[in-house]
Amino acid sequence: NLPQYVQIKEVGPRDGLQNEKTWIDTADKVAWINMLSESGVKEIEYTSFVNPKWIPALADAREVGKRIMRNPDVSYSALVPNVKGLDLALEAGIDRASVFMSASETHNLKNINKSIDDTYPIIKQVIHQAKQAGKFVTGYVSTVFDCPHEGKIAPNEVHRVCEKLFEYGVDDISLGDTIGSAVPTQVEQLLETMMTYYPKEKIIMHFHDTRGMAIANIMTSMQYGIHRFDSSIGGLGGCPYAPGASGNVATNDVLYLLHGLGIHTGIYEDKVQEASLFIQDKLGKALPSRSLAYLASA
Ligand code: HMG
Ligand code: MG
Repeated sequence: NLPQYVQIKEVGPRDGLQNEKTWIDTADKVAWINMLSESGVKEIEYTSFVNPKWIPALADAREVGKRIMRNPDVSYSALVPNVKGLDLALEAGIDRASVFMSASETHNLKNINKSIDDTYPIIKQVIHQAKQAGKFVTGYVSTVFDCPHEGKIAPNEVHRVCEKLFEYGVDDISLGDTIGSAVPTQVEQLLETMMTYYPKEKIIMHFHDTRGMAIANIMTSMQYGIHRFDSSIGGLGGCPYAPGASGNVATNDVLYLLHGLGIHTGIYEDKVQEASLFIQDKLGKALPSRSLAYLASA
């Protein structure tokens, strides 16, 4: 009962770069995103319109948005925390706004400097204005399994946040295993709860691969009918406000799994390999993806 088609959102240019200490020049970001635009992927989260003091690696968000080539087959999204971020994103060009908050109070506070309750009205306004501008909106919910500060997060706490986001008008929800700690039984428990409330088409899973569990968790999610996943080229990534969090599951590894299972993605592995080697070279270090390393050495 696995899906025949899986839709991947490439988050490398956003989640992948946000925690990097090495500055990637705007021209290199643009060239790299243009390569990704030609890879067959249908959605690219290309940057964040957040306070550059918090995320210096993406301080050139506007410039990147203005300079990237727009493939009409690709939906371009960006992370926006507030109306200021949305205004900048609309000016730079987005098809979809990604709003974000956390199921855990402490992580929310550390990540966006506000309590969960104080975040709701801000996000509500962003969603309203993004919708008025004719954009899609994804709502990210972080720390859906474990919080680095509070420990286990119950599925009901996740549901509570999702319910608000849907009420405000998001099109879908991306559930983040921010610190890459979940094992498949936790995924089962969360999805059991989520699926009593929301159609599976509206749920995206966003796994970080800190402990090497992401592929197992993707497999489990697909057994629940989930067919939308976020991944990052080469396995780049991590949240600076979640200690110890490392990269997203690598697009390269996910493609190896899916294509091996006979599941279609529309993405060309050779193009992904090429784009991985490009950014690996610019960062001057080996990226975590095992498939990337294998192919590069073969
Ligand atoms: P704040 O400091 O509380 O904001 O930050 P403020 O409203 O008091 O404003 C302070 C300053 O920030 C002002 O500038 C604003 O103009 C500026 P100043 O007057 O001091 O010069 N500012 C902005 N500048 C540019 N763009 C904006 C913006 N907003 C305010 N949009 C804020 C609140 C939310 C802005 C801040 O906490 C922030 O930027 N946080 C971002 C944190 C972040 O990006 N974290 C990583 C992404 S989340 C993630 O990785 C998880 C995810 O992948 C899923 C998962 O893995 O679980 C999505
Ligand atoms: Mg993330």
